[in-house]
Amino acid sequence: MTLRSFLFSFLRRQKYSFLFLVLISLMWAVEQVLFPYAVKMIIDVLASYEGDRSQVYEVLAFPLWLGAGVWIASITAWRTADVIEYFFAPRFQANIREAMTQYVFSHSHRYFSEHLAGSIANKIGDMVRGAYYIVNQAVRFFFPNLIAVLATAAVMCTISYVFGAILLVWAAVHLFLCGYFSRQCDDVANEHSEIKSMLQGRVVDAVSNFITVRLFARSSHELDNVRRYQKEEIRAHRHMLLTIGKVRALLEIPCLVMIIIEVYFLIKGWQEGYVSTGDAVFVLSTTLNLMYILWRVGMEFPAFYREIGVCQQALSLIREPHEITDRKDAPALVITQGQIAFENVFFAYNKGQNLFCDKNIVIPAGQRVGLVGFSGSGKSTFVNLILRMYDLESGRIVIDGQDIAHVTQDSLRSQVSLIPQDPILFHRSLRENIAYAKPDATDEEIIAAAKQAHCHEFIMAAPEGYAAIVGERGVKLSGGQRQRIAIARAILKDAPILIFDEATSSLDSFTESAIGRSMEAMMKGRTTIVIAHRLSTLTSMDRLLVFKDGSIAEDGTHEALLAAGGHYAMLWNMQVGGFLPDSTTEKAPA
Ligand SMILES: Nc1ncnc2c1ncn2[C@@H]1O[C@H](COP(=O)(O)OP(=O)(O)OP(=O)(O)O)[C@@H](O)[C@H]1O
Ligand SMILES: [Mg+2]
Repeated sequence: MTLRSFLFSFLRRQKYSFLFLVLISLMWAVEQVLFPYAVKMIIDVLASYEGDRSQVYEVLAFPLWLGAGVWIASITAWRTADVIEYFFAPRFQANIREAMTQYVFSHSHRYFSEHLAGSIANKIGDMVRGAYYIVNQAVRFFFPNLIAVLATAAVMCTISYVFGAILLVWAAVHLFLCGYFSRQCDDVANEHSEIKSMLQGRVVDAVSNFITVRLFARSSHELDNVRRYQKEEIRAHRHMLLTIGKVRALLEIPCLVMIIIEVYFLIKGWQEGYVSTGDAVFVLSTTLNLMYILWRVGMEFPAFYREIGVCQQALSLIREPHEITDRKDAPALVITQGQIAFENVFFAYNKGQNLFCDKNIVIPAGQRVGLVGFSGSGKSTFVNLILRMYDLESGRIVIDGQDIAHVTQDSLRSQVSLIPQDPILFHRSLRENIAYAKPDATDEEIIAAAKQAHCHEFIMAAPEGYAAIVGERGVKLSGGQRQRIAIARAILKDAPILIFDEATSSLDSFTESAIGRSMEAMMKGRTTIVIAHRLSTLTSMDRLLVFKDGSIAEDGTHEALLAAGGHYAMLWNMQVGGFLPDSTTEKAPA
């Protein structure tokens, strides 16, 4: 999608307001010629009037009315433009913001892990501001000014072709130079904007990781890091300003040449009698006016190109196709039982490095399955694939006979609850955070869910209770409190398939066993997958899958796997306090 087609798609939605603005600009352009023309007529009348001076109004009536009419029409038009803009501008910007945000939301998990959130948000902001600037400048500035030049040149031709020609040649040279150098300015502006957005991303990254920065006492390192990018940014900024300055200096030359030639021909024409006093005033005043106007037009070019550059950059957000999309006319997923099957699944985060090779596994409906294995063995990946966070290399994942790649993503994700290890909360109230999956939940429902997840107690301990704001990403809560909020959220969501990815890892044993009872209740009649490093929490599962380097090494109940004496038995025996070591190198001595 080009920037032009992007802008036009939004202008089409407000075509009447837009056309009105164009029309008003056109009226203004005509006024730029008619008003000086009325003045010229008045001067000509006065200069050659030889009758009774008390009767002069009779001959002046037409030019006076013309001037007054044009003037009034012009102010009325501009004020009407203000009114139209009142309706046009806010809606235009809102439409763009909404469309871009909506598009970005459908980007894949991978996209969000590869792009900084701050820079995505900045790009949306840039586009909202830049798109309006471009349209406004084009319609209310460039377009009417160019029309004014053409109209003035046409009227000048009625005096002598020479003046029209001089004006057009100069305007063409001026605009050509502006356009030519704007491309240069565009390049340097693009470079600057790219570096600026990288710098901005760095700042956001450092600020959003402020806890880590503080814990490691690395603020000076982060500042140095920012400074390094800052240095680059200063260089690019200066380079841009210098280029613009040079272009401005160069543009002065044709202006000077034009004025000299024009004055020469005006005097010559006056001497030879084909230029009247009024004509001379008209030519000089409109030329000076247009020179001022076109100078401003030229000066706006770099800023205009800069804005185009910024918008092009921002457009990359929506130029990048969605990695994971719904098929055309994809039906909604219908879960009747809740059986999950992996059929010949090959999956790789990076091409050529398969994490899962030909994975086949069936989790029958209603089964409670525990996933265990070393860190990095692929447990989270396994559950993320069930939510279609990534697409497979080949094979399929089937829920109740329906390939999850063939149903809508929303229907899939609204029926699978995943409670992550480190839930991040919205900077909103506790109530809103809990009711996120069910915005129309009643207070009773919310409190009941909070009680089951054992968060009611600590919520009520806060003075604002459920209205308390949790801080950006939930920083005002402890890790265990955030986990409990996430569990309450899942209880309200009431989805037929449940996945806990280390969802109770931050809880103390007492709270964990208390919540365990609520979780047992939640699991009833639901297909459930629980990932836990604390193996003792998984002993009552119907089945355990032991992950090893992406493959499922063992499959069975706790007792059966212990008896088999394999990888699981080794892990179990290693659990001193109930936790797994991080890798096989930490194996306990035999
Ligand atoms: N977004 C990603 N891009 C590239 N590689 C990834 C990505 N996420 C995970 N991996 C890699 O895939 C492998 C499996 O990761 P996964 O998160 O599934 O492990 P895990 O078993 O859940 O570990 P843990 O117990 O620590 O949570 C790891 O080697 C990891 O580095
Ligand atoms: Mg994990």
